[in-house]
Amino acid sequence: MTELQDTLTKCVRWAPPPANFPIQVDEDARTVTVAAGISQRVLLDYLSEYTHGKQPQGWTLPAFSWFIDQTIGGAVATATHGSSMRQGSLSSQVLELEAVLANGTLATFSPTSNEHLFRAFGVSAGRLGVITKLKMRIMPQQSVQRTTQTLKFREFAAQVMATQEAYKAAKASGDEDAVQQALFQVDETQALWLVERDTLWRVDYDHLYKEPSSVIENLNFSMIPTLSAYSGPDGQSVFAQVPKTPVAPNGLMTGNAAYWGVVFDAGAQVYVRPGTFETRKSYMSVTESTTSVSTTLAPYVQMEAAVPLETAGTCLQSLNRLLYDGFWNRNPDSFRNPALIRFVSGEPFYIAPTHGGPRMYLNIEDWLSLSTGKLNQAYDDVLKTLRGPDCRGRLHWGKGGWPRYASCFDGATEYPDTWCHFGCAAHELDPTGKFQATGDGKTAIWKWYATRNGTAADFASCCGPNGFSAECQCASRTDCVPGQL
Ligand SMILES: Cc1cc2nc3c(=O)[nH]c(=O)nc-3n(C[C@H](O)[C@H](O)[C@H](O)COP(=O)(O)OP(=O)(O)OC[C@H]3O[C@@H](n4cnc5c(N)ncnc54)[C@H](O)[C@@H]3O)c2cc1C
Ligand SMILES: *[C@@H]1O[C@H](CO)[C@@H](O)[C@H](O)[C@H]1NC(C)=O
Ligand SMILES: *[C@@H]1O[C@H](CO)[C@@H](O)[C@H](O)[C@H]1NC(C)=O
Ligand SMILES: *[C@@H]1O[C@H](CO)[C@@H](O)[C@H](O)[C@H]1NC(C)=O
Repeated sequence: MTELQDTLTKCVRWAPPPANFPIQVDEDARTVTVAAGISQRVLLDYLSEYTHGKQPQGWTLPAFSWFIDQTIGGAVATATHGSSMRQGSLSSQVLELEAVLANGTLATFSPTSNEHLFRAFGVSAGRLGVITKLKMRIMPQQSVQRTTQTLKFREFAAQVMATQEAYKAAKASGDEDAVQQALFQVDETQALWLVERDTLWRVDYDHLYKEPSSVIENLNFSMIPTLSAYSGPDGQSVFAQVPKTPVAPNGLMTGNAAYWGVVFDAGAQVYVRPGTFETRKSYMSVTESTTSVSTTLAPYVQMEAAVPLETAGTCLQSLNRLLYDGFWNRNPDSFRNPALIRFVSGEPFYIAPTHGGPRMYLNIEDWLSLSTGKLNQAYDDVLKTLRGPDCRGRLHWGKGGWPRYASCFDGATEYPDTWCHFGCAAHELDPTGKFQATGDGKTAIWKWYATRNGTAADFASCCGPNGFSAECQCASRTDCVPGQL
């Protein structure tokens, strides 16, 4: 998707761009239509510099992720998310998407054209076809105030525990206002957690209506608007696609956790600095320079699990015991850079990790095992905890951990209400399994089974225009025994 001619078009000056320009803003409708191969960074920068139309502060996606150097199509396909209890993941910001289907036709999906297929395509992990274009909601940039608390991990776990209990009590009493009050406690909350140092920065946001950078000292008549966001370093293309040799295993990060703790502590400060900034800058997202450094140090693996809010505090307390509690101390120095904790509202998409209710996402990286060739035991314990009974976390579709922490993945168990609806969409849109991933046995995940009145049924016979029929039951796979959930 990154190599399509229109996606590579250059555009330096602001003017209503030509019709084939891959980012089209409709200020009146408050939408942007973007080619799937455009990176999220280019999209966000373009929107934030779109200040010469009706919004002098420019525009933004209502919520976006930490990592923004992926394609917007890939981000939506995998339910990539930031932290928002109002806006959900990037998938929830999609109003309409266009995709090439298995039979080569181009099709458009929206909640109004076909709600069933939109719930499937909104998070598709590439299984349903190739997304080519997305229409997404935008909003004017605001002044967003960032505040930071420095905590011990255990203190943060206690805060999340209080939110968990408030949420559960509100749900039990059926009090909708109290549910919202509880969720509001973690709306837009993000935490950067320096695991090896037991330091956690909890970041929260407030919205103001103006900021110092919105005033202009001297107006003049020659302010030729430019949008530098779209001009790559060579001024010709967005980003030249240069083949890059993967970073080889090396000893750079394998020793001296304390040293790297100091480095990351200092390096990450800039992301949590309190203050009031425009939306694009206030919500934490990785800078290009951090991305270019972190892709040269050492090979690493990143994994993330989505933990139900009902068990989020319990989960963090379990991790606290695992990593920091005296006798059971499992060497927090097995970790290097900060982990990231975020909160996302429940979403309607069949295989969104947030389907069924709000989730706490915990993202954590292993910088050691690929260089040492040895299992990183403490990291392995953390992942097992995230997948175990205290956390019950679902794995992110766009990250590592597959198949090790989801061997024999059983969708009917992990997504009990919706897995077979997604299966019906896959049968309809890709009847020959063109987008079926490679792999079989324990690594195969796209498996759907059904029973009718207690006996095995032909899966396709259970599918109708609204998905999986209520006269069938979605059944677990029987070809191998699933790992922990
Ligand atoms: C360093 C790093 C940091 C990250 N941080 C975050 C984060 O902050 N928050 C978060 O939620 N995620 C994060 N991610 C995950 C990332 O957003 C996803 O992996 C995303 O899918 C990557 O996009 P890509 O364009 O590289 O897709 P690829 O890696 O090429 O593809 C990923 C999956 O999406 C499918 N896909 C890709 N493009 C399309 C398309 N056009 N149509 C249909 N299916 C498609 C592929 O088939 C595949 O299954 C991070 C990833 C990395 C590497
Ligand atoms: C007018 O504004 C533009 C854009 O900010 C600036 O580059 C230019 O120097 C200004 N011209 C004068 C005469 O101040
Ligand atoms: C391609 O598949 C879609 C989805 O099943 C279907 O609606 C469409 O009619 C098919 N087109 C052709 C030309 O077969
Ligand atoms: C399944 O059971 C229901 C009642 O439990 C019955 O009405 C229906 O006919 C049965 N269907 C089949 C295919 O046996």
